[in-house]
Amino acid sequence: MPSAQALPPQSDKGAYVREMFASIAPRYDLVNRVMTARMDEAWRAAAIAMLRAPRGGSIVDLCCGTGDVAFALLRDDPSAQVTGIDFCDPMLAVARRRAAAGEARGARLQFLEGDVMALPFGDGSFDGATMGFSMRNVVDIDDTLREIRRVLRSGARFVNLDVSKAPNRFFKRAFDAYFYGIVPLIGALVGRSKKAYTYLPQSLTNHPDAEALRERFARAGFVECGFKRLMGGSIAIHVGTAP
Ligand SMILES: C[S@@+](CC[C@H](N)C(=O)[O-])C[C@H]1O[C@@H](n2cnc3c(N)ncnc32)[C@H](O)[C@@H]1O
Repeated sequence: MPSAQALPPQSDKGAYVREMFASIAPRYDLVNRVMTARMDEAWRAAAIAMLRAPRGGSIVDLCCGTGDVAFALLRDDPSAQVTGIDFCDPMLAVARRRAAAGEARGARLQFLEGDVMALPFGDGSFDGATMGFSMRNVVDIDDTLREIRRVLRSGARFVNLDVSKAPNRFFKRAFDAYFYGIVPLIGALVGRSKKAYTYLPQSLTNHPDAEALRERFARAGFVECGFKRLMGGSIAIHVGTAP
């Protein structure tokens, strides 16, 4: 079982996470592609397929980072109105550079700086919400889920894509060996930050498993909560609908 030595104390988590992502922002996309052998693109597409937002709807991508999910949303529906929000300015700077370089030319797309635990939007503002590989990083999952539900219109879905705990022992052993052993090495070599890529896998250690996270969705007031496992359950896509 991996130790939790790279995890910050809960009281410092927000600042720690922001600084950590600031330090890896310039190489974040490259490390992701190497770490997942580009499979992350297919996982994002699978998550977006579960959003079922109306064409041309307004979607908020929470913890948008360098914009991968936001750009994928626009590839899926170029008429969507996408707002990405993240509290790490250097990650947003990469997202804005990608948009300016033409990744979403002509799209209705904005990237805003903000904390997903206190969203700067009115109640019922969005037709859908997404989050990619980030729920492990928020300070309080329950507050975050309640806040996401608040900004969704009735009937709108929230889709959360993240690594998860594989229920199958064989998959879990293989995944843990890769995630806790190889990922920090890739992080050191490609991302030039062994510390950050030691924290990232360890952030899964205390994270709820897929069934427990589904229950947290329900407790936060979402209805029709469920999840789909990918990669033997090492990746999970959770979905909940705002009542
Ligand atoms: C692993 S990255 C994921 C980025 C992107 N969603 C993706 O799929 O590649 C996690 C992101 O969550 C952001 N983040 C963590 N906690 C946050 C919070 N409370 N409010 C806003 N952003 C947050 C970090 O700044 C970072 O950009």
